[in-house]
Amino acid sequence: MENFEIPKGSKADIYKALIPQINALVEGESDLYANLANIAAALKEAFNHFWVGFYLVKQDKLVLGPFQGPVACTRIAYGRGVCGAAWKEKRTLVMPDVDKFPGHIACSSLSKSEIVVPLFYNEQVVAVLDIDSMELNSFDQTDAHYLEQLFKSLKFSPSAFK
Ligand code: SME
Repeated sequence: MENFEIPKGSKADIYKALIPQINALVEGESDLYANLANIAAALKEAFNHFWVGFYLVKQDKLVLGPFQGPVACTRIAYGRGVCGAAWKEKRTLVMPDVDKFPGHIACSSLSKSEIVVPLFYNEQVVAVLDIDSMELNSFDQTDAHYLEQLFKSLKFSPSAFK
């Protein structure tokens, strides 16, 4: 853990240096919550985003999981808000201006832009990563690309999602 280093440079440089370190952090741990908590912490520390966290699929709702940042809504219905839409559409959603997304759920009025990336296990969405920024246009295809790559590279224990 003491070797965890937050790189400087472009967004892509930061992701490229961060992804192998996150993988090293989670590979020896089988507990899902411990790993999601460290992933949220690593991303928050690297980019200093307003809010970084996971919502986990539990029956017909997303339920708040490990996160870093201010208190947040605890349950989100299928298809609702940016998180519920990313779950339903099974794809990453980038919102440059959350006020332009009609169903946006404002857990905080300070949040201006957002990215939501689904985490798949056995081709099912099991969780979504939600990152919020206090500035407009904080997220783009670079974030989508590297966050999806991070999720594809993670080697969670199969028991993690049981
Ligand atoms: N804005 C999200 C809800 C979660 S919070 O922002 C932490 C949404 O519209 O799904």
